[in-house]
Amino acid sequence: MTRARITIDRDFTIGEVPRRLFGSFVEHMGRCVYTGIYEPGHPTATEEGFRQDVLDLTKELGATVVRYPGGNFVSGYNWEDGVGPVDQRPRRLDGAWHTLESNAFGLHEFMSWSKLAGVEVMEAINLGTRGVDAARELVEYANHPGGTYLSDLRRKNGAAEPFDIKLWCLGNELDGPWQIGHKTADEYGRLAQETGKAMRFVDPDIELVAVGSSNSGMPTFGEWEYTVLSHAYDEVDYMSLHAYYQEHDGDAKSFLASAVDMDYFIESVIATTDAVRARGKHKKHINLSFDEWNVWYQRGLGTDDQPAAVSKAGWREHPRVIEDAYNVTDAVVVGTLLNSLLRHGDRVKIANQAQLVNVIAPIRSEENGPAWRQSIFWPFARMAELARGQILRTSVDSDRIDTAQFGDADLVDISATWDEENGRAAFFVANRGLDEAAQVDLALRGFSVSRVTRAEVLRVPNGADRFATNNQAAGEQVGLVPLEGVQHDGGQQGAGRLTFSLPALSWAVIEVEVAVV
Ligand code: AHR
Repeated sequence: MTRARITIDRDFTIGEVPRRLFGSFVEHMGRCVYTGIYEPGHPTATEEGFRQDVLDLTKELGATVVRYPGGNFVSGYNWEDGVGPVDQRPRRLDGAWHTLESNAFGLHEFMSWSKLAGVEVMEAINLGTRGVDAARELVEYANHPGGTYLSDLRRKNGAAEPFDIKLWCLGNELDGPWQIGHKTADEYGRLAQETGKAMRFVDPDIELVAVGSSNSGMPTFGEWEYTVLSHAYDEVDYMSLHAYYQEHDGDAKSFLASAVDMDYFIESVIATTDAVRARGKHKKHINLSFDEWNVWYQRGLGTDDQPAAVSKAGWREHPRVIEDAYNVTDAVVVGTLLNSLLRHGDRVKIANQAQLVNVIAPIRSEENGPAWRQSIFWPFARMAELARGQILRTSVDSDRIDTAQFGDADLVDISATWDEENGRAAFFVANRGLDEAAQVDLALRGFSVSRVTRAEVLRVPNGADRFATNNQAAGEQVGLVPLEGVQHDGGQQGAGRLTFSLPALSWAVIEVEVAVV
């Protein structure tokens, strides 16, 4: 039996939970837009052609902000193609994913969908093939009230009120040689600075995210961030990070410790941005936007059903690409990645799980068919629902696991929040152990505990193994069930206490009613 002793103190907080941590991502890629969020002929389609079943699941997931329209796609995209009468929009080749883009879905459709989904929009601009002019024109089209050519064009196209988009990404993964319009750090840094400046001339209230490294293994990692910020520090507010994890060659232990790498990545980017701050004698801090993260089995761009790379299949509209089916192990890893993001919530202010539907996504849908929740839906949905108020620092004394890829890691991983307004504290806990249950003893200094209000666990379902997934045929066999046996005792000597046992390879959420003592 694994043992973990965890101490939390009411006075040791990290900061307010940034609600934008529970972001998602919709890219014109595979079936994320077409037959994902948008399918006019679907039995649940709204008048505007949005799938109501997917909208309902998006709301249940609790996403707060959604990045759009890419991704690699945006680096070759003309935003003008996606506005105006649909029957006059051009069909284009999308070089990023080698697909045919009909442009039936564009900016106005995404804004309407976002309103229905109750999410903030995070708009990415094309700094691959385009630049300052297209970016500032898009800001004018979207955010200027009226009385100019572009703002009046928006009104003519059906949106009398400005979209008022606050959050903008200055391109996507431009450090990567695969990107259309790949750039050196100096080229990108100068472009980001000048584009940001021109965008702010149109709307001074926008927030800007600079492109960071595509992952911490990039040869330019560190140098890229330093150089880009040396050019653009004054103009940008956030530095982006992207990371995808997967199980390699059956090495589940390393995979389960992926959050150790995420911690390293985040802390390295904080150190680099702060080094530029010191060097340039800047006052403000650059915060972090982890605007693509997830588990992704990168075995080419096919799926298990259709393994051929997209580019070999000819130009097609919304082909099936990277529709990963997520298992129990993946859900536990996603829970720990969310813990890493939350524990760094003093600097990571935005995070977007990539993507929302079908393409490496918590939600799956079939054309003219059903939509369902994947295993990874649950840690995200519960954290988005319950992580409110202050993030609490956690001191963990746990048995450890030794991994080939990421060194050693705590077998029990946790993050915690306290919402003073509703008098509740929430704990998001994972047991990385593949074989042993974990006994957890949680001391809550400065709190008394009166009641357990929620205790749920996602673990290997009876009769299945850790590779169990949800799918159209089997239904949703992987989900949350009650976590039995959570014990609490009051608040003697100024500390409440929780004790519970986590099954092997599991992720759990516990919420309790607390009072300050
Ligand atoms: O999310 C899938 C792709 O991964 C995105 O288009 C790109 O930015 C990243 O490499």
